[in-house]
Amino acid sequence: MDDYNAMSRRAAELVAGELHANPEAVIAVPTGATPQGFYAQLVALHRQGAFDASRLRVFQLDDYVGASADDPHSFYAWIKRDFLDPLGIASAQVTRLRGDRADIWRACHEYDAALRAVGGLDLAVLGLGGNGHIGFNEPPADPTSATHSTALSAETIAAHTRYWGEGIPVPSRAVTCGMANLLAARRQVVLVAGAEKRAILRRMVDGPVSAQVPASWLWRSAGCVIVADAAAWGRAPGVI
Ligand code: GLP
Repeated sequence: MDDYNAMSRRAAELVAGELHANPEAVIAVPTGATPQGFYAQLVALHRQGAFDASRLRVFQLDDYVGASADDPHSFYAWIKRDFLDPLGIASAQVTRLRGDRADIWRACHEYDAALRAVGGLDLAVLGLGGNGHIGFNEPPADPTSATHSTALSAETIAAHTRYWGEGIPVPSRAVTCGMANLLAARRQVVLVAGAEKRAILRRMVDGPVSAQVPASWLWRSAGCVIVADAAAWGRAPGVI
C-alpha cells in the first residue's frame, strides 16, 4: 500500500469483508500504534453498514500482567476505546485475558478452554513487534505454546515506553494468547507500518522459520495475509 492511510483502509476492508461473511466470527484484535488508522476506518465502514458487530465474539489478544481493566494503559482499556465501544460490542461478547488475576495460570487455562469451546479463532488481526513478536509471544517462541504469561524483553519494554510516557515504568511481564491459537486461526491479518518495521518484516517473510522470529511461523500458515505500507514493505506496494 502506498501510504499508511491506504494500508489502514485496505486492512479495514479486508476485515469488514470477513466479518460480513461471518457475523458470528471469533476474533482477536491488536493494540499498538499500527492499528490506529485501521480502527478508524473499520468504525467508519461499520457506520456505513458494511458489517454487523452484534454477534461477534472477541477474545482479547494480550495484556500486561498487573494492569487492571480500569488502567487506561491496559490493553483491555485500549481495545475498549478503539474497537469494542465504537462498534457497540457488549462485554458479554468479550473473553478477557486477565493479567490482573492473582492466579495467572488459571486465567490462561480458562481463556484457552473458552476459546476451545467456541472452536478457535476465525480471525486474528495482529501487529508485528519490532523483535518479531506476535501478541506478546516473545522470541524464542514455541509454535505449540498455549496462552501464557511471559517476561517482556528489554527491547519490547523500551518500545512500550511510548505508550506509557517517559519515566513511567512499563510492566515487566505480560500475558498473551498462545502461538498455537494464533497459528490455528482460519485467517490471520498482520498489519505492518513504518520503515522501522522493514527489517523484521523481511525476516518474517524471507528468512527461515525460526523461534527467534515468532512471526515467521505465522507467515507459513495458509490463512496469513500481510497488509503493509510502502515504508515497511520497501518494495512495490501490495497486499502480500
Ligand atoms: C505490542 C503488542 C502487539 C503489537 C506490537 C506492535 O507489543 N503486544 O500486539 O502488535 O506491540 O506495536 P506497534 O504497532 O505500536 O509497533
